[in-house]
Amino acid sequence: MSKNLRLCEVADVKDGEPVAAFAEGMPALAVYNVDGEIFVTDNLCTHGNAMLTDGYQDGDVIECPFHGGSFDIKTGAANAFPCQVAIVSYPVEIEDGWVCITKPEGAA
Ligand code: FES
Repeated sequence: MSKNLRLCEVADVKDGEPVAAFAEGMPALAVYNVDGEIFVTDNLCTHGNAMLTDGYQDGDVIECPFHGGSFDIKTGAANAFPCQVAIVSYPVEIEDGWVCITKPEGAA
């Protein structure tokens, strides 16, 4: 059975300033505001042990703070070397001003 997880308030996520979020049974998450639209991905870079919320958001691109690799915030796709494996991107729902994702089936 899936359920919605509340991550943070929409008002706390400013355009260009990704926010780290945590939810039970989920990996570390990153919440982004891109032109007023909210997106959520895994926070851990797929290339190494770096949190993307420590990196640099430029529009819909998040650049890792370690080696300059980057990802598409909207899809999770890796779009700059040395990142080659996509990060997970989660469908977002806004509930009562909160950023929510649905806990995937089978997640712990
Ligand atoms: Fe992110 Fe290397 S750890 S680009």
